[in-house]
Amino acid sequence: MAQLQAAPPSLTLEIRSCTKCSLHEGRDHPVVGIGDGRSGLLVLGEAPGAEEDRTGVPFVGRSGRLLRSILLQELGLEEEALTISNVVRCRPPKNRTPTKVELATCWPYMERQLAYLQPRAILTVGNTPSRALLGTTEGITTLRGRTYDRNGIVIVPTFHPAAALRGRPEMEAAIRHDVRLLLPLLKFPS
Ligand code: URA
Repeated sequence: MAQLQAAPPSLTLEIRSCTKCSLHEGRDHPVVGIGDGRSGLLVLGEAPGAEEDRTGVPFVGRSGRLLRSILLQELGLEEEALTISNVVRCRPPKNRTPTKVELATCWPYMERQLAYLQPRAILTVGNTPSRALLGTTEGITTLRGRTYDRNGIVIVPTFHPAAALRGRPEMEAAIRHDVRLLLPLLKFPS
């Protein structure tokens, strides 16, 4: 598992003690993120699920494991080079989609994390992070399959791997296609 260096210590402490919205009431562990940004790629999901809330680590449940294996296979990275976070840090009840207010309340943490990590590229996984980063209400089916520029950062939206686990193999093929768009943007450790 990659080390916890995805945010500066002050930001990590703030996220861990955050009570700015009601999601903190039901959380065990908020997600700060993993990885140190060395590959130039940041993977951004929506919010923790049950396993992520239990561990404080993003994308460790069944769909997370699928996404990680796709990333390692398609990009040729070591697990330690993966940098992953979520736009909302605390688990919404019953894994519902975060509200606009929850997203907006959490967003300043994302801005600070982006300033710290300075990614070249961001893989936005599913509707919520894709819409948030691109400032659109378009759905992921429309957004995915191409790259976008956001203030000099390349954004690559893709389906959430949970969709691929619901018996839709074409979803996994689409995720693999989108992940490969990141290949020319990777920075390898020297
Ligand atoms: N889905 C997400 O969007 N984030 C996680 O960390 C896990 C599943």
